[in-house]
Amino acid sequence: MSTIKIAIDGPAGAGKSTIAKIVAKQLGFIYIDTGAMYRAVALKAIKNNIDTKDTDKVCSILHDLDIDIKYDNNGQVVFLDGQDVTQEIRTPEVSIGASNVAAIPEVRIKLVELQRKLAASNNVIMDGRDIGTYVLPDADIKIFLTASVEDRAKRRYEEMIAKNSFCSLEEVKKDIEYRDKNDSSRAFAPLKIAEDAVVIDTTGNELEESLNIVLQLIKERLQ
Ligand code: CDP
Repeated sequence: MSTIKIAIDGPAGAGKSTIAKIVAKQLGFIYIDTGAMYRAVALKAIKNNIDTKDTDKVCSILHDLDIDIKYDNNGQVVFLDGQDVTQEIRTPEVSIGASNVAAIPEVRIKLVELQRKLAASNNVIMDGRDIGTYVLPDADIKIFLTASVEDRAKRRYEEMIAKNSFCSLEEVKKDIEYRDKNDSSRAFAPLKIAEDAVVIDTTGNELEESLNIVLQLIKERLQ
C-alpha cells in the first residue's frame, strides 16, 4: 500500500516546523524535519574543526556519518553518532553551517536517501527546502510556506528568546538573509517553489490563521 506524503517547503522562520508538527499530530502522520539532518552534518563538521564550506573535508566525514531519527512524546529526537543532539543542533553557528553543508551535492544525496526511506514506509509530513521539488516529487500535497524576512526574523527571534538563547533581532535577521540567499542560489536542489505547490504567505498572520489555512487545504486534498 502506498503511503501519503505531504511536503512543506519554504525559507527559515516561515512557520513550517510548528505547523507541520501540529498537522502530523492531528493526522497521525510522522513529522520529518529534514533541516535537522543538515544541522547534524554541520555539527559533526564543527566538532571535527572542519570549515563547513570545505567540500573535501566535509565529504571526508560522510562515510561514517551515523544520523538516526527517533520519535518520542515530544516529537523528533536526532542522534548523531549515537548521541542525542536535538538541542545542540539549534545554535546560530549550526544554522549557518547547515546552510553551507547543504550546498554540497554529496551531503544532499546521502540525506535524501534517508528521507526517502522514511517516507516509503510511513505517512509523512516532511519539511525542508527541496521536498516538493526533489525529495518527494510525487508528494500528494505540496505547500510552499513563506513570509516577509522581517516577520520571519521576528518569529525566530521570539522563539530563541523563549528558549533563553541570547541573540539580537538584527543577528537573527542577518542569519536568515544569509541562508535565504545561500539556499536559493545553490546549484543542486535549491530552495524554490515546486510548479504544483500551493504558496501560502503567512506575513502578518497569527500562527492559528496559517495553521487553519494549511489544515483546510489538506482536508480538501485528502478527501
Ligand atoms: O528551521 P530553519 O528553517 O531555521 O532551518 P532548517 O529547516 O533547520 O534547515 C537548516 C538549513 O538546512 C537550511 O538553511 C538549508 O540550508 C538546509 N536544508 C536544506 O538545504 N534542505 C532541506 N530539505 C532542509 C534544510
